[in-house]
Amino acid sequence: MKIAVAGGTGLVGKFAVTAAENRGHEVVSISRRNGIDLISGEGLAEALNGVDVVIDVTNKTTLSAKAARKFFSTVTDNLLSAEVQTGVKHHVALSIVGIDEIDDGYYAGKLEQERTIQKGTIPYTIARSSQFHEFVTQQLQSMPGPIALLPKCLMRPVAAREVGQHLVDIAEGKPLKRATDLVGPRNEVLADLARRQIAFDGLKKLVLEFPLPGVFGRGMASGDLRGKGETIVGKTTFDDWLESPDHQNPPQ
Ligand SMILES: NC(=O)c1ccc[n+]([C@@H]2O[C@H](COP(=O)([O-])OP(=O)(O)OC[C@H]3O[C@@H](n4cnc5c(N)ncnc54)[C@H](OP(=O)(O)O)[C@@H]3O)[C@@H](O)[C@H]2O)c1
Repeated sequence: MKIAVAGGTGLVGKFAVTAAENRGHEVVSISRRNGIDLISGEGLAEALNGVDVVIDVTNKTTLSAKAARKFFSTVTDNLLSAEVQTGVKHHVALSIVGIDEIDDGYYAGKLEQERTIQKGTIPYTIARSSQFHEFVTQQLQSMPGPIALLPKCLMRPVAAREVGQHLVDIAEGKPLKRATDLVGPRNEVLADLARRQIAFDGLKKLVLEFPLPGVFGRGMASGDLRGKGETIVGKTTFDDWLESPDHQNPPQ
């Protein structure tokens, strides 16, 4: 099977590319670093030549609902148009567990992405996962200095490596519209994870937790992001992940 990973140079994208290659698939990695900007869409149809399935794990880091909606709808529109043109049979997109009632901030972009896919003509699977273990690093890196001010966030983190493998499982199957949500093995709290990671790494940084106001902040603190109902549960706990090469020497 020929699989294109849009965002294949990103955190979860690298794991999806590796998982697909290890299973013998031909893989095309699409990103600006690889010469294709999904906002302009230039060169995209050529890159999708002969591709059976597209896995979309692109990302824009923003808390602005407007910017997030614009990014995810433009990227999705451009991908879907090129997929129609080139005969792609299945569009797989990674979204986030529990965001239905949090149509605000970054999550507004993810919901817009889901709606754009649902309106299109390409058979699709929207696969939602909970926050990655690596989300803690992403948050800490955005706050250099001796203090990290983190929003109250109830989560159930999962290893990005397992998410990448899950996306390839889905790409190998039939379009499902919605896949069963993938979550991690334990309920956690962001600030507590950050304190454990800082202690594990032997760093000195004070973590303070605050309730982020607004729909987005209340959503993070609500527990919705942990998922409910039927879920697929990842194996790697946060503490296992801390000791793993994925934390010690993350793939470059
Ligand atoms: N982080 C989490 O905890 C979490 C949890 C659940 C779901 N997700 C979802 O997982 C997805 C991937 O997240 P991530 O943290 O792995 O992302 P990431 O590390 O920030 O990687 C983003 C990828 O998108 C590419 N990209 C960005 N803008 C592009 C553009 N204009 N044209 C082409 N490629 C572009 C980047 O490559 P270039 O910079 O080279 O273009 C990179 O390969 C997101 O959609 C996110 O919502 C994340």
